[in-house]
Amino acid sequence: MHKKLLIPGPTEVSKEILSAQSQYLIGHREKEFSELYGGITDKINKYFQLPTDFKPTVTTGSGTLWFDIIGRSVVKEKALACVNGAFSQRCAMTLISCGKQTDIIEVEMGKPIKPEMVAEKLCTGKYDTLTVCHNETSTGVRSPIAEIGKMVKEDYPDIIFAVDAVSSMAGDKTLPSEMNCDIVFGSTQKCFALPPGLAIALVNDRAIERAKTVSNRGAYTDLVGIFEYEAKHQTPFTPNVSLLFALDKRMDLLLEETYDKVYQRHVDMANYTIAWAKKHFSMFPEQGYESVTVSCINSNGKDVKAMNDKLGELGYLISAGYGKLKEKTFRIGHMGEWNLVGIKEVLTRIDDVWGLK
Ligand SMILES: Cc1ncc(COP(=O)(O)O)c(C=O)c1O
Repeated sequence: MHKKLLIPGPTEVSKEILSAQSQYLIGHREKEFSELYGGITDKINKYFQLPTDFKPTVTTGSGTLWFDIIGRSVVKEKALACVNGAFSQRCAMTLISCGKQTDIIEVEMGKPIKPEMVAEKLCTGKYDTLTVCHNETSTGVRSPIAEIGKMVKEDYPDIIFAVDAVSSMAGDKTLPSEMNCDIVFGSTQKCFALPPGLAIALVNDRAIERAKTVSNRGAYTDLVGIFEYEAKHQTPFTPNVSLLFALDKRMDLLLEETYDKVYQRHVDMANYTIAWAKKHFSMFPEQGYESVTVSCINSNGKDVKAMNDKLGELGYLISAGYGKLKEKTFRIGHMGEWNLVGIKEVLTRIDDVWGLK
């Protein structure tokens, strides 16, 4: 039986998008490809209202590829990586494994990264790159990126500020102009509601100029190479053309719905889920910092696996906690194509099947 996905990625993908992939392939050095790819990046540009110094790119490879791109192409001497969960931890470890000196600010799981914590470290003047995760999918915490970005822009204008918005881009507010960042990236299997395999990044000229001064950038991770090909509406290496067909369709749908309405739809789903969670359980994130795309809920001693198995019989899949939080929490992803009507229906089914009153 097909289970509808309410896990925080991959999320449910509609038949319309799935069938958009099944077109005959085209050569990635042909004019037709440049028309397709150039059209997609134009749509991304429009949807994310890019300032003139920003360019979009679509890479074949999931969001983690961007940890490597930042590690290989952006960090010059030393990075400051902020860690508040499993994915931000993975980012920090990737920068280190790319051979870059990296200091870590680590806060307890469930807490956000706050501007004052970052400012306290940046004032030592040792860093050229800062990484923060906007939406820590492992804990359901949303950090105040706009405030962090404003402080960085005003006080540390030479730092490149890179934001992991893998599970918030195209759901939450992630315009570069809202985040005050230099790089922001997301994955297609999350709010874009496509199959996994592509990452979408918005990068400014300053970050590309920085990359030109960094050596040993690799091949797949060479930010300069990526944008040299972007100018021809191509990608440096063979892209996943089938997924690009689907992304083209998705960008049409997002533009039709509009950025503000997409955001509001996610806020409505989050508010409803949080109120439901507070009635029956409790929320894991610090109050006021809850994600709008994934709710991480304390299971308060209930058997998450048994509950999910029961839900599975009805054709839905939610997610256990991530890593250390596996037994203590569960997560409901409300992103992508889901809407309030669908979420209300699922939560009502959960009430029935879990015997919640
Ligand atoms: C916040 C965050 N960052 C990075 C990643 C890694 O992305 P991907 O699985 O697309 O490589 C994930 C995946 O869930 C994530 O949620």
